[in-house]
Amino acid sequence: MALRSIFLYVINKSNVSSICQRSSSFWSHVEMGPPDAILGITEAYKRDTNPKKVNLGVGAYRDDNGKPYVLSCVRKADQRLIEKQFDKEYLPISGTAEFCERSIKLALGDDSQIVANGSNATVQGISGTGSLRIGAAFLNSFFPGNKVVYLPIPSWGNHTPIFKHAGLEVKSYKFYDPKTCGFDFAGAMDDIAKIPERSIILLHACAHNPTGVDPNPQQWAEMSALIKKKNLFPYMDMAYQGFASGDINKDAAAVRMFINEGHEIALAQSYAKNMGLYGERAGAFTIVTKSKDEAAKNREREAAKVLSQIKILIRPMYSNPPLHGARIVNEILGDKELKVEWLKEVKGMADRIISVRTKLRDNLKKEGSSRNWQHITDQIGMFCFTGMSPQHVDRLTKEFHIYLTKDGRISMAGVTSKNVEYLAHAMHQVTK
Ligand SMILES: Cc1ncc(COP(=O)(O)O)c(C=O)c1O
Repeated sequence: MALRSIFLYVINKSNVSSICQRSSSFWSHVEMGPPDAILGITEAYKRDTNPKKVNLGVGAYRDDNGKPYVLSCVRKADQRLIEKQFDKEYLPISGTAEFCERSIKLALGDDSQIVANGSNATVQGISGTGSLRIGAAFLNSFFPGNKVVYLPIPSWGNHTPIFKHAGLEVKSYKFYDPKTCGFDFAGAMDDIAKIPERSIILLHACAHNPTGVDPNPQQWAEMSALIKKKNLFPYMDMAYQGFASGDINKDAAAVRMFINEGHEIALAQSYAKNMGLYGERAGAFTIVTKSKDEAAKNREREAAKVLSQIKILIRPMYSNPPLHGARIVNEILGDKELKVEWLKEVKGMADRIISVRTKLRDNLKKEGSSRNWQHITDQIGMFCFTGMSPQHVDRLTKEFHIYLTKDGRISMAGVTSKNVEYLAHAMHQVTK
């Protein structure tokens, strides 16, 4: 009898514990992750009821009234697409062939020998991020050297997780000099010289994010020679072509120089900023299989093999890319009139940012600031790395309702002719 009771007790206990286990969630062990640094700033900005508040955190273009801007060429392309009544069938795994060809020609130039020879493997990606991620996956599977990617310090916050998520190791090289708020050319060259041969180096093709600091043409040439000498593989991230200087060719100069110097490169492109297609997620990823001494036919075969493997990686990730953004890009790049209009509009956006940089610097001078703010106008593109400390940033937010990242990065797109004086006043007050 006693034995029976013990038996029932054990049975009951195991039932109870399995019921308990079943009723507790599979996910009870999951801990709350930290909020995204930039989206958190926007949330805090939205909660602020002060009428003078300014959001300088967001990395998206705003017009001079602080409003999101849809390019007129994009509106027209959209209208044409409606009229064409396209179907909504799946795209191929690698996206539209036309879109891929127009994208790589935009980067390398219409007269690119690489494109003429078919020495490029290009796929449509999910904007810049998705394109970078596909490239990272390809390098992790097929790069024949060290599976380590070297990033500039600092780099875009998403680079490290993108590469780590794909399985690559991430290391760094010097890039920004906090003393000058400019490019640490000597430091970069020193560090690049120490990178083990046959490693991957990530380069921001133009408008470096978050610093707005780019090497000059001479510095690019010296970096290219060193990267070649060390047999490093350049992965170029071009998220701002046209948006930096207002000229798509000037902004692609570093990419084209690397190609002319005979580098094999990987390239990620995005149409988020330069066409304002943020949410449409249009971009491209390319591997250039160029090696100077190989015959064109060989390179073409190599590109085809690379493309076949990239497609095998894409298929289980998202099967095929979205239609609409790529159609808009195609419509604009494939039509003379729309393309001319786009080139004017992208220049308009770049010019507004360049002019507001000058206004900010002039107003700081007017405020009586004795600091050297020259870097505000030396830097280029969407962002300005002001050199302000986290304490300065805290005061800007608490006392002046101005929101930006703790590293002192200002999104110049959020500065307008209406708030630039207020911003300069606040910056002077917290830094004097
Ligand atoms: C350096 C850099 N690379 C890539 C991207 C990718 O952007 P998206 O995925 O929106 O095209 C960005 C966007 O901020 C960026 O700054």
